[in-house]
Amino acid sequence: MSDSTPQPAQDGRPKYRRELANFVAATKDLGERHTVWTSRPYYLEYSTNSACNLRCIMCSQVENPPVYSTPLAQQGPLLEELFRNTTLWTPSATSEPLLNNFDRLWPLIQKHNVQLDIITNAMLLTPAVLEKLLPQLHRITLSVDSHQKAVLEKLRAPAVFETVIEHARHATRRCREVGVPVIYHMVLAYDVLDGLEDYVDFIAELGGTRITVLELLPNTPHFDELDPFRRVGEAKIAERLEAMRRRAEERGMGLFLEVHAPLGGEYDYGSPNTRVQSGTVLEMMHSELAEAHAGFCPMVTGYLKVEPDGTTFPCCRAPRELVLGNVLKDGVEAVWNGAPMQRLRERMFAGDYPEPCKGCVVLEAPRWRAESRARQNPG
Ligand SMILES: C[S@@+](CC[C@H](N)C(=O)[O-])C[C@H]1O[C@@H](n2cnc3c(N)ncnc32)[C@H](O)[C@@H]1O
Ligand code: SF4
Repeated sequence: MSDSTPQPAQDGRPKYRRELANFVAATKDLGERHTVWTSRPYYLEYSTNSACNLRCIMCSQVENPPVYSTPLAQQGPLLEELFRNTTLWTPSATSEPLLNNFDRLWPLIQKHNVQLDIITNAMLLTPAVLEKLLPQLHRITLSVDSHQKAVLEKLRAPAVFETVIEHARHATRRCREVGVPVIYHMVLAYDVLDGLEDYVDFIAELGGTRITVLELLPNTPHFDELDPFRRVGEAKIAERLEAMRRRAEERGMGLFLEVHAPLGGEYDYGSPNTRVQSGTVLEMMHSELAEAHAGFCPMVTGYLKVEPDGTTFPCCRAPRELVLGNVLKDGVEAVWNGAPMQRLRERMFAGDYPEPCKGCVVLEAPRWRAESRARQNPG
C-alpha cells in the first residue's frame, strides 16, 4: 500500500464535493418522489472473493461452499466505476474481508478516497495489517462471540482464542487512539446465554465501548442446535438480555440488541469514540445545498442572528428591513416560522428579492460557484 495522499477523482472536483452533491441529489430524488434517480448509492458491500479462513458453525461457510472470485481483469474496471460514488465500503460477501488483497486494491481505495467499514473475525488482524488499513478505516467490527475460550473455539472453528483476543485488544486500543470506532459483535447462540454479563465485563476490559448482539439467522445446518429461542424459549432469553443490559448500563457500554421485537433495543450508555467534526461536515453540506438551490439565500436556509435584546435577523448583515421578530418576546419557533420569515422564503423561491438582498454577495456567491463548476465540467 502506498502512503501518498488521496487523488481527486476524474471530474476535477474532490471526492467530498461529489459526495455532498450526490447527497443533495438524493434529497431531491426522495423529496420529489422520482423513480429514476440522479443520485447514486454511497454504501457498497462487495468482496473480490467469497473466501473465509474460518468455518463458524452459525455461518453458511460451515458447509464449505465453493470459493468464487471476480476475475482479476474485471476487478479494476468494476471498482473504478463503483468507487466513484462509494463513501463506505464493506469488503465482504459472507466471507472474511481481510482475505481481499488490499495491497493491490490500495491505489484504487486511495484514488477514490473510499472509507473501509470492516467486519472481521480478527484472526488475520495483526498490528501490521491494522496499521496499513488505518488511514482509510471508517469503523471496525470485531466478531468475538464469547469471552470463553471453549465457546469461542466451538462456534468459530478453527479460530484460536488467544490470537483473536490479542488482535482484538490491540485493535481496540489503537483505534481508540486515532478515533476509529470499534464495535464488538456477538451472535446470540444458545452457548453464549449464560455468560452475557461476563461478556460485557470482558469487552470493557479489552477497552471496548460498544457491543452489538445479532439474532442468529437460519444460515446453517446447525441452526436448531444453536437457536436459543428453540432451546430455552423467549421468556428466558428476555431475562438474560435484561441482565446483559443492566451490566452494560453499570459499565457505561453501548449495547445494541439486534433481536426481534420486543427483545430488541438500542442502549446508548457508552460515549462514542468517533472523531466526527460536525462543524466541518455541516459547512460542506451547507455550501453544497446553497449551490444546488442557488438563488435562495444560504443564510435564509439555516442561519439566525439574534441581538442581545432578542431582535432576530435571517443573516449576519442584519438589515432593519429584514427583522423577523424578537425571540425573547415571541419565542424562537414563532420567529423562525413567523409571518415575516414565511414571506421572506416565498420571495426567495420566487426570486423577488427584498431591497437589501439585491446584489448581496451572500446571495450571489452560490450562483458564481455553480457557474464556475458548469464551466469546468460542461455537460
Ligand atoms: C458473515 S460475517 C463476515 C465477516 C467476518 N468473516 C466475520 O465473521 O466477522 C458478518 C457478521 O455476521 C455474523 N454472523 C455469522 N453467522 C451469522 C448468523 N447465522 N446469524 C447472524 N449473524 C451471523 C458474524 O458473526 C459477523 O459478525
Ligand atoms: S462468520 Fe465470518 S468468520 Fe465465521 S465462517 Fe462466516 S464469514 Fe467466516
